[in-house]
Order: sequence, then C-alpha cells, then structure tokens
Amino acid sequence: MEPFSFQLPTKVVFGVGALGNLGTELDERGWRSALIVTDKGVREAGLLARVEELLRALNVDYAVYDGVVPNPTVRSIEAGLPLARGREVLIALGGGSAIDTAKALNALRTHGGHVLDWEGHEAVPGPCGPLIAVPTTAGTGSEVTPIAMVSAPERHQKVPLVSRHLAPDVALVDPTLTVSLPPAVTAATGMDALTHAIEAATTLTEQPLADLLAFQAIERLHEFLPRAVRDGRDLEARTQVAFASLLAGMAFSHAWVGLAHAIAHALGGLYDLPHGLCCALALPVAMEYNLEAKPDKYQRIARLLGQPDAEAGIARVRALTREIGLPQSLRELNVPEHDVERIAELALLDGSILFNPREVTPEAMTALVRKLF
Ligand SMILES: [Fe+2]
Repeated sequence: MEPFSFQLPTKVVFGVGALGNLGTELDERGWRSALIVTDKGVREAGLLARVEELLRALNVDYAVYDGVVPNPTVRSIEAGLPLARGREVLIALGGGSAIDTAKALNALRTHGGHVLDWEGHEAVPGPCGPLIAVPTTAGTGSEVTPIAMVSAPERHQKVPLVSRHLAPDVALVDPTLTVSLPPAVTAATGMDALTHAIEAATTLTEQPLADLLAFQAIERLHEFLPRAVRDGRDLEARTQVAFASLLAGMAFSHAWVGLAHAIAHALGGLYDLPHGLCCALALPVAMEYNLEAKPDKYQRIARLLGQPDAEAGIARVRALTREIGLPQSLRELNVPEHDVERIAELALLDGSILFNPREVTPEAMTALVRKLF
C-alpha cells in the first residue's frame, strides 16, 4: 500500500432532521449574526422560510443574499459582498452553486482582493470566516469539499478554487430538504455523485481511504438513485443518496477527479449546462477510455454495480442514465456539433485532466467529445 494522507476539516451532522441542529451549532460557537446565501428556487421551494424561522426563534440577526446563479459567476459572488460585511457566519443553503458561491464569498469577505486571485491550488492566503453548509440537493458533495467552481464567462471557463481554507466548518445534511427536488434534478445531481465516486477510485491519486468511501457511494447510488428519482418522497432513498453524495464528496476531496469532469467543466463553462447532466454524459465514455489504465479497479466497480466484468459495469452506468431519464447525447442538449474542437481544447485545459489515469492527447480528446454527440 502506498502512503497517503487524509483530513476532513468539516464537522458533519447527518440525517433526517439535521437542520434542527443549526441552533446548537450557532450557540456553541457564539455566532449571533448570519448571512444566508441561497437562490430563488430554494426560496420558492419554501426551504429558506424554514431556515429563517429557525434563526428568528434563536434571535439570530440575519440577512439573505438570494442572487446565487447556476454555474456561479464572479459577478454573482461579488454581488453578495455588501450583505456579507459584518456578519459573523455565512449559511449556504442550496445546491453546489449556493455552497460554492458562499465559499468564494467567504474568502472574499475575509481576504479582500478578487475571486480569481485564488484560482488553482491552495492560493487562498489563510483561514476564512465561519461557514455552515446546508445542501438542498444530493450530488455535489460541496458541503465537505475544499473546492469552489467559479464561472469566468469572458473566458468561457469554469475555474477551480481549491484550498483547505474554503471547506465549510459545519455541514448540516438533512435529506428532508431534498424531497421536493424534481426527478430530472435528482437524476442529474445523483450522477454527479456517481461520477465523483467512480473517478475518485480510478485517478492517479487514488488512495485506500478514499476508495472505501467511493465504493460505498457507488453501491448505494446504484441501488437508491433510481428509487429517489421514481418517488421523491421515498425518504429512505433520499437519505441513502444524500449519504452517498457526502461519501463521494469526501472521497474526491482526497483522490480528485479525472476525464469525465474535465469534459463536464468545459461543457458547463461553454453552454452553462447543469454540471450533473454533463457528468452523466461524459462518465461512460471516460470509463471506456480509462479502462486499460485501471482494469482491476474497473472490475471492482463492476462488481459493486452487480456486473460480472468491467465492460458490463460501464454498460450498466450507461443504462442507469437512460433509466433515470437523462439525455443520451449532446445533440439532445442542442450543443452545436461544430464546437467539438472548442470543447476538446477547453477540456484539455481543465485541471482534472492532471489526475486522469490515462494520458489524453488532443486527438483522443477530440474523438471522445465527438462520441458525446
Ligand atoms: Fe462534480
């Protein structure tokens, strides 16, 4: 076994009713003023009202920034800054976009400067202010990762900020917050989690402890994601998917991701498509390409998916995306086919490609992207 390191900076409170622990977490630390970072969908779903009610009951002075957008832009993050000033704690309430926005905003309110100053690895100069993450989707794992993905529209790129200082202090993961998600969002975000797990287990930086988490996540997602898509009120399925998403987030915080995410980030940056959708499309194609670099791992993954061999495992992943109703090609998403080269170029620039177990030449990337159509 190769030596490895593993550190979880985030306290996790998990389970049905976990949101009710918000008061305890705030009280323990003496935090009396907060900014809730969220989006309008979360507000309309009535989830913001639940958090506001808790804060009022606790006499916590709070404000709300609901300007979070999908694939958060630098501008949408900076727009929250005036409201964040003077608040002790940020409470991110939403999917990956809300949590990533809050992470970047937290760095901004603590260190000043510009969001893109912290592009890349460990560029945040020091600890940030307090941050509590309350996910309302199950997939990104952002509640426990040191990563914020930020869109730079003028560059048509999704840029990673990766720093241990960005990880939330506390994650309150309450599966009841996901019951109102529509099937298409459940399916796409769930496939993001499966992509985290499968990629984390097969990168150049794979490691035994991340493997344990990833394997558990794969098994649970395979069993429970179709159930959660079929019946959003199936609380056991929702709980298992939320747990799997958390595990996959912990796994890829240490072992990182690869080719599927490189392609997904390029597509998200260019066309503002939902991240999970892009992952679901790219994952089986990336698995086929990477199979020869990690045959034993893919065999293991296949068994977790109830399949006899690696090829059948990959076919199972593809079938799963079909069963849960996700698009099967970029054509269905109206991505223009003449953009193949452009997508491939951007995917090759994405940091995730550094961890991919098999080298990807420009020609290979072009061929892979073409397959997605
Ligand atoms: Fe992802």
